[in-house]
Amino acid sequence: MKIYTPADLGKLPDLPTFTLGEKWMALGAADDGKANLMTASWGGFGTLWGRPVAFVFLRPERYTFGIVSKTEKITLSFFDEESREMLRTLGTLSGRNCDKCALAGAEITVDNGFVLPRAAKPVVFGHKLFETDLAAGRFIESEITEKWYRTGTPHTLFVYEVEKILSR
Ligand SMILES: Cc1cc2nc3c(=O)[nH]c(=O)nc-3n(C[C@H](O)[C@H](O)[C@H](O)COP(=O)(O)O)c2cc1C
Repeated sequence: MKIYTPADLGKLPDLPTFTLGEKWMALGAADDGKANLMTASWGGFGTLWGRPVAFVFLRPERYTFGIVSKTEKITLSFFDEESREMLRTLGTLSGRNCDKCALAGAEITVDNGFVLPRAAKPVVFGHKLFETDLAAGRFIESEITEKWYRTGTPHTLFVYEVEKILSR
Protein backbone atom coordinates (compact mmCIF):
# COMPACT_ATOMS: atom_id res chain seq x y z
CA MET A 1 0.00 0.00 0.00
CA LYS A 2 1.44 3.40 -0.97
CA ILE A 3 0.45 6.71 0.60
CA TYR A 4 0.14 9.75 -1.69
CA THR A 5 0.16 13.08 0.14
CA PRO A 6 -0.90 16.43 -1.42
CA ALA A 7 2.74 17.02 -2.44
CA ASP A 8 2.80 13.98 -4.73
CA LEU A 9 -0.82 13.62 -5.87
CA GLY A 10 0.44 14.38 -9.39
CA LYS A 11 2.21 10.98 -9.41
CA LEU A 12 -1.02 9.09 -8.68
CA PRO A 13 -2.36 6.54 -11.10
CA ASP A 14 -5.44 8.17 -12.66
CA LEU A 15 -8.60 8.54 -10.61
CA PRO A 16 -11.81 8.19 -12.60
CA THR A 17 -13.47 11.56 -13.10
CA PHE A 18 -15.35 11.59 -16.37
CA THR A 19 -15.83 7.81 -16.04
CA LEU A 20 -17.18 7.96 -12.47
CA GLY A 21 -20.68 7.43 -13.83
CA GLU A 22 -19.68 3.91 -14.94
CA LYS A 23 -16.93 3.18 -12.42
CA TRP A 24 -18.80 4.07 -9.18
CA MET A 25 -17.24 4.64 -5.74
CA ALA A 26 -18.22 3.99 -2.12
CA LEU A 27 -18.54 7.01 0.12
CA GLY A 28 -17.68 6.06 3.69
CA ALA A 29 -18.55 8.10 6.76
CA ALA A 30 -18.86 7.43 10.49
CA ASP A 31 -20.34 9.33 13.39
CA ASP A 32 -21.42 8.40 16.88
CA GLY A 33 -20.39 4.76 16.48
CA LYS A 34 -22.35 4.45 13.21
CA ALA A 35 -20.26 3.68 10.11
CA ASN A 36 -21.81 3.48 6.66
CA LEU A 37 -20.87 3.03 3.01
CA MET A 38 -22.99 4.40 0.19
CA THR A 39 -22.43 4.04 -3.55
CA ALA A 40 -21.94 7.35 -5.34
CA SER A 41 -21.27 8.14 -8.98
CA TRP A 42 -21.87 11.87 -9.11
CA GLY A 43 -18.87 14.02 -8.29
CA GLY A 44 -15.24 14.41 -9.23
CA PHE A 45 -11.74 15.52 -8.33
CA GLY A 46 -9.89 18.73 -9.08
CA THR A 47 -8.42 21.92 -7.72
CA LEU A 48 -10.31 24.56 -5.75
CA TRP A 49 -9.06 27.38 -3.55
CA GLY A 50 -5.53 26.23 -4.40
CA ARG A 51 -6.14 22.80 -2.85
CA PRO A 52 -6.69 19.28 -4.18
CA VAL A 53 -10.39 18.55 -3.72
CA ALA A 54 -13.09 15.95 -4.19
CA PHE A 55 -16.70 16.96 -4.63
CA VAL A 56 -19.79 14.81 -4.20
CA PHE A 57 -23.55 15.31 -4.46
CA LEU A 58 -25.88 13.72 -1.90
CA ARG A 59 -29.63 13.73 -1.60
CA PRO A 60 -30.79 14.68 1.92
CA GLU A 61 -32.94 11.51 1.94
CA ARG A 62 -29.82 9.31 2.24
CA TYR A 63 -28.94 7.91 5.66
CA THR A 64 -25.34 8.80 4.76
CA PHE A 65 -26.40 12.44 4.41
CA GLY A 66 -27.20 12.62 8.13
CA ILE A 67 -23.74 11.25 8.93
CA VAL A 68 -21.77 13.53 6.58
CA SER A 69 -23.71 16.50 7.92
CA LYS A 70 -22.25 15.78 11.36
CA THR A 71 -18.71 14.71 10.55
CA GLU A 72 -15.96 16.43 8.57
CA LYS A 73 -14.30 13.18 7.47
CA ILE A 74 -15.10 10.95 4.52
CA THR A 75 -13.41 8.32 2.41
CA LEU A 76 -14.05 7.72 -1.28
CA SER A 77 -13.12 4.17 -2.25
CA PHE A 78 -12.65 2.46 -5.58
CA PHE A 79 -12.80 -1.25 -6.34
CA ASP A 80 -12.06 -3.86 -8.98
CA GLU A 81 -14.86 -4.96 -11.28
CA GLU A 82 -15.54 -8.05 -9.14
CA SER A 83 -16.91 -5.76 -6.39
CA ARG A 84 -19.65 -4.42 -8.69
CA GLU A 85 -22.40 -6.40 -6.90
CA MET A 86 -21.21 -5.11 -3.54
CA LEU A 87 -21.46 -1.54 -4.86
CA ARG A 88 -24.91 -2.28 -6.28
CA THR A 89 -26.07 -3.42 -2.81
CA LEU A 90 -24.45 -0.40 -1.12
CA GLY A 91 -26.36 1.77 -3.60
CA THR A 92 -29.71 0.07 -3.08
CA LEU A 93 -30.09 -0.80 0.62
CA SER A 94 -30.03 1.83 3.35
CA GLY A 95 -27.85 1.72 6.44
CA ARG A 96 -30.84 3.22 8.23
CA ASN A 97 -32.69 -0.12 8.21
CA CYS A 98 -30.02 -2.84 8.16
CA ASP A 99 -26.38 -3.73 8.58
CA LYS A 100 -25.80 -2.81 4.97
CA CYS A 101 -22.02 -3.30 4.93
CA ALA A 102 -22.38 -6.87 6.26
CA LEU A 103 -25.17 -7.68 3.78
CA ALA A 104 -23.08 -6.29 0.90
CA GLY A 105 -20.00 -8.26 2.00
CA ALA A 106 -18.03 -5.05 2.55
CA GLU A 107 -15.57 -5.50 5.40
CA ILE A 108 -14.78 -2.16 7.00
CA THR A 109 -12.62 -0.77 9.76
CA VAL A 110 -12.86 2.73 11.21
CA ASP A 111 -9.50 4.40 11.76
CA ASN A 112 -9.46 7.83 13.40
CA GLY A 113 -12.98 8.52 12.09
CA PHE A 114 -12.24 7.36 8.52
CA VAL A 115 -14.17 4.36 7.15
CA LEU A 116 -11.83 1.97 5.35
CA PRO A 117 -13.24 -0.85 3.20
CA ARG A 118 -10.76 -3.73 3.18
CA ALA A 119 -10.90 -4.47 -0.56
CA ALA A 120 -10.63 -0.86 -1.74
CA LYS A 121 -7.92 0.59 -3.95
CA PRO A 122 -7.40 3.44 -3.97
CA VAL A 123 -8.98 5.14 -0.94
CA VAL A 124 -9.21 8.93 -0.91
CA PHE A 125 -9.25 10.60 2.54
CA GLY A 126 -11.02 13.96 2.70
CA HIS A 127 -12.10 16.60 5.17
CA LYS A 128 -15.01 18.92 4.52
CA LEU A 129 -14.42 22.47 3.29
CA PHE A 130 -17.82 23.53 2.03
CA GLU A 131 -21.42 22.47 1.50
CA THR A 132 -24.40 24.03 -0.22
CA ASP A 133 -27.84 22.94 -1.36
CA LEU A 134 -28.52 23.02 -5.10
CA ALA A 135 -31.12 25.79 -5.16
CA ALA A 136 -34.00 25.05 -7.56
CA GLY A 137 -33.93 28.56 -9.06
CA ARG A 138 -30.29 28.24 -10.17
CA PHE A 139 -30.77 25.61 -12.85
CA ILE A 140 -30.33 26.95 -16.39
CA GLU A 141 -31.93 23.97 -18.16
CA SER A 142 -35.40 23.03 -16.97
CA GLU A 143 -34.82 19.60 -18.53
CA ILE A 144 -32.49 18.78 -15.62
CA THR A 145 -34.98 19.65 -12.89
CA GLU A 146 -37.78 17.86 -14.75
CA LYS A 147 -35.67 14.74 -15.18
CA TRP A 148 -33.97 14.57 -11.79
CA TYR A 149 -36.02 16.59 -9.30
CA ARG A 150 -39.63 15.88 -10.15
CA THR A 151 -39.62 13.97 -6.85
CA GLY A 152 -37.26 14.10 -3.88
CA THR A 153 -35.07 16.91 -2.59
CA PRO A 154 -32.30 18.31 -4.82
CA HIS A 155 -28.78 17.18 -4.00
CA THR A 156 -26.42 18.99 -1.66
CA LEU A 157 -22.90 19.64 -2.94
CA PHE A 158 -20.07 18.79 -0.53
CA VAL A 159 -16.47 19.81 -1.23
CA TYR A 160 -13.66 17.95 0.56
CA GLU A 161 -9.96 18.67 0.67
CA VAL A 162 -7.99 15.57 -0.29
CA GLU A 163 -5.64 14.83 2.63
CA LYS A 164 -4.05 11.70 1.24
CA ILE A 165 -4.75 8.72 -0.99
CA LEU A 166 -3.93 5.11 -0.17
CA SER A 167 -3.15 3.08 -3.24
CA ARG A 168 -1.80 -0.44 -3.78
C1 LIG B 1 -24.51 3.43 -9.22
C2 LIG B 1 -25.14 4.29 -8.17
C3 LIG B 1 -24.70 5.59 -7.98
C4 LIG B 1 -25.29 6.42 -7.01
N1 LIG B 1 -24.83 7.70 -6.86
C5 LIG B 1 -25.39 8.49 -5.92
C6 LIG B 1 -24.89 9.82 -5.73
O1 LIG B 1 -23.91 10.26 -6.34
N2 LIG B 1 -25.52 10.61 -4.81
C7 LIG B 1 -26.59 10.14 -4.07
O2 LIG B 1 -27.13 10.89 -3.24
N3 LIG B 1 -27.06 8.86 -4.21
C8 LIG B 1 -26.46 8.04 -5.11
N4 LIG B 1 -26.91 6.76 -5.25
C9 LIG B 1 -28.01 6.27 -4.40
C10 LIG B 1 -27.54 5.79 -3.03
O3 LIG B 1 -26.35 5.03 -3.11
C11 LIG B 1 -28.66 4.92 -2.41
O4 LIG B 1 -29.83 5.71 -2.24
C12 LIG B 1 -28.25 4.26 -1.10
O5 LIG B 1 -29.19 3.24 -0.82
C13 LIG B 1 -28.18 5.24 0.06
O6 LIG B 1 -27.75 4.52 1.18
P1 LIG B 1 -27.90 5.08 2.67
O7 LIG B 1 -29.38 5.32 2.91
O8 LIG B 1 -27.32 3.97 3.54
O9 LIG B 1 -27.11 6.34 2.75
C14 LIG B 1 -26.33 5.92 -6.20
C15 LIG B 1 -26.76 4.58 -6.36
C16 LIG B 1 -26.17 3.77 -7.33
C17 LIG B 1 -26.62 2.35 -7.49
